[in-house]
Amino acid sequence: MSDDIGPALPEDQFRRLAHETAGIVADYLAGIREDPVFRVMPDMVRRRLKEQALDEHSVSAPQLIQEIREFVLPYPMGNGHPRFFGWINSAPAPVGILAEMLVAAQNPSADVGDIAALHVETAVLGWFKHLMGFPAEAAGILVSGGTMATMTGLAAARQWVAETDGWDVRREGVRPPDGRRLLIYVSEETHSSVRKAVELLGLGSSALRTVEVDGRYRMDPDSLLRRIEQDAGPGERPFCVVATAGTVNSGAIDPLARIADICGRHGLWLHVDGAYGAVASTHPLVAPSFEGIARADSLSIDPHKWLSVPVECGCALVRDGDLLRRTFAYVPPYLHTEEGMGIGGPDFAQYGFQQTRGFRALKLWAVLRHMGGRGMRELIGRHLALARELAGLIDDAPDLRMAAPVTLSVVAFRYVPQGTADDPEALDRLNRAIEVEVQNDGRVFLSTTRLRGRLVLRACVLHYDTRAEDLVELVDVVREIGADLAAKSASHQSRPSTEAEGT
Ligand SMILES: Cc1ncc(COP(=O)(O)O)c(C=O)c1O
Repeated sequence: MSDDIGPALPEDQFRRLAHETAGIVADYLAGIREDPVFRVMPDMVRRRLKEQALDEHSVSAPQLIQEIREFVLPYPMGNGHPRFFGWINSAPAPVGILAEMLVAAQNPSADVGDIAALHVETAVLGWFKHLMGFPAEAAGILVSGGTMATMTGLAAARQWVAETDGWDVRREGVRPPDGRRLLIYVSEETHSSVRKAVELLGLGSSALRTVEVDGRYRMDPDSLLRRIEQDAGPGERPFCVVATAGTVNSGAIDPLARIADICGRHGLWLHVDGAYGAVASTHPLVAPSFEGIARADSLSIDPHKWLSVPVECGCALVRDGDLLRRTFAYVPPYLHTEEGMGIGGPDFAQYGFQQTRGFRALKLWAVLRHMGGRGMRELIGRHLALARELAGLIDDAPDLRMAAPVTLSVVAFRYVPQGTADDPEALDRLNRAIEVEVQNDGRVFLSTTRLRGRLVLRACVLHYDTRAEDLVELVDVVREIGADLAAKSASHQSRPSTEAEGT
């Protein structure tokens, strides 16, 4: 084969480059701890990446690898770094990185067929069904992440309410009988992906009913019950509750068992968004807080969050597997296969929105098997312990205040220099400025959110190599930058009056 025809590469060159690339990857991973977590990209690099024209002539493969090394690898998001505490993004497990390369070599479409990809996906879905206490007749599918998992679960919920109430959503669209309005209950802490899914499913965001949370940011089941009872009039059809097992803001876990009771009694579908937290239900320290998760009608889990599976990897489980098939199934003639004949085999395209699908299961299969069940629980346990340790450091610092109790591995807190506690808006601005400065500084990385309207710093412990000393550094950096910014702001405020005096 000639190397100037399309994408082909001579075998000896591929072999050499593959070895070199593996070396680059190994060096990159080995050096991460010494690198800044995040570095601002020079303008020249940004422009080069954004504005690169497509050349008419071929660029050699070694040159491409060199360019990636020089212009891409040094500018990551930062989540591979053990002192990255932003949002909910983990580092990729090394066996997951290797699996990604092997998947790319095979490059199947994991939709239909008696092919390895689909049997591996069946296996990992079986593990999750078992871990989450779902029955064997449940069905699941791997998707891009928590957002698409929730979309899948809520599509099943919509199919369910239509079948239950005797209308055909797939044919007619969202047209419940008597013009009744479908209602979905969420909490103030529900992730934004639920709203996106509700909008895209044609339910309209005005279908969302927001239930208050308690002092620990958990959905208040009494308020939920009251709202459902109030809404259950002739014009409205409460049909779904989205509970969260591990909120993005603080890691709170809604009281799932009580919510499941309410859903059971009032005929509502229960979707549990466990994108971040569901896997922690396997750890004895926090398992009791997840009681009721196995009663969900649908569940989102995100292996690319806590389990260090390289992005993208989300998972939707639906208790009634046949219902999930009825939500999506459609086989045109050109896709018709029969199990046991030719390539005919499992058909995942009937259980989700995508036709051509990536082989996401292999990296998940590799990462889970490499850790084993015990290793997975140890990883989770370590993060739970580190988050509690971080909360202890924050409690001990006179200028830091915890903003929410620690349930999982998110720690929400605020920098509060002495004498400023009574000016919450100034504190919001100061904490926002701290976030930006910490990110630019590069020693650690965290993000912010709002709790009860106030801006808070939040650190999420998810990296498999984060150590106690990294937490100390996080606290030190926030306090150092916080003190610096607070001092600058104080001198800035005092300057005009001084100048006025001088004139
Ligand atoms: C609770 C929760 N649900 C859903 C999502 C969305 O997941 P993804 O970003 O994988 O689509 C997130 C992301 O952080 C989350 O924390």
